[in-house]
Amino acid sequence: MAIRAVYPGSFDPLTNGHLDLIERSLRLFDELVVAVVTNPAKTALFTDNERIEMIRDATRHLREIEIVVFDGLLVDLTARLGARAIIRGLRAVSDFEYEFQMALMNRQLFPELETVFLVPSVDITYLSSSLVREVSRHGGDVSGLVHPAVAEALNRRFSRPGNGSGG
Ligand code: PNS
Repeated sequence: MAIRAVYPGSFDPLTNGHLDLIERSLRLFDELVVAVVTNPAKTALFTDNERIEMIRDATRHLREIEIVVFDGLLVDLTARLGARAIIRGLRAVSDFEYEFQMALMNRQLFPELETVFLVPSVDITYLSSSLVREVSRHGGDVSGLVHPAVAEALNRRFSRPGNGSGG
């Protein structure tokens, strides 16, 4: 039976760190679902649809992944999807406490589900969506940190002419 994993997150926006994890997950699992959390209380820079489009554009070169939007509990989504694992990235020790708590809470809620922590490439361990948003908001070049489709979307959002290569 195909083993399916879910990679959940805000992806606001998708970074090269997320992409790195998607590629690593595809090497481990038969099927991968990227799950974009929708949170009306949290003001996201990009809408659900924009975040989905960016993920779709940035993963065209990979074998097929499913992209879904969800709210509510992650364990309910994984149960609906029949997924056996949740993928999360661990960049630094500072990620650990929050991730550890989430993993244990998810296990409490759904014991059969495993959380799998993957470590991204060392050259992008400092990368986060919030840093990318901040750098881009102030006109910094994020072209080496995100897929060109994401760079273009950031340029559009911050009303700058751009071709996706940071210009
Ligand atoms: O990219 P993020 O913002 O670090 O992702 C966090 C996410 C979406 C994985 C987490 O907030 C989540 O799972 N939200 C869904 C609600 C839920 O299940 N909460 C209980 C987990 S302990």
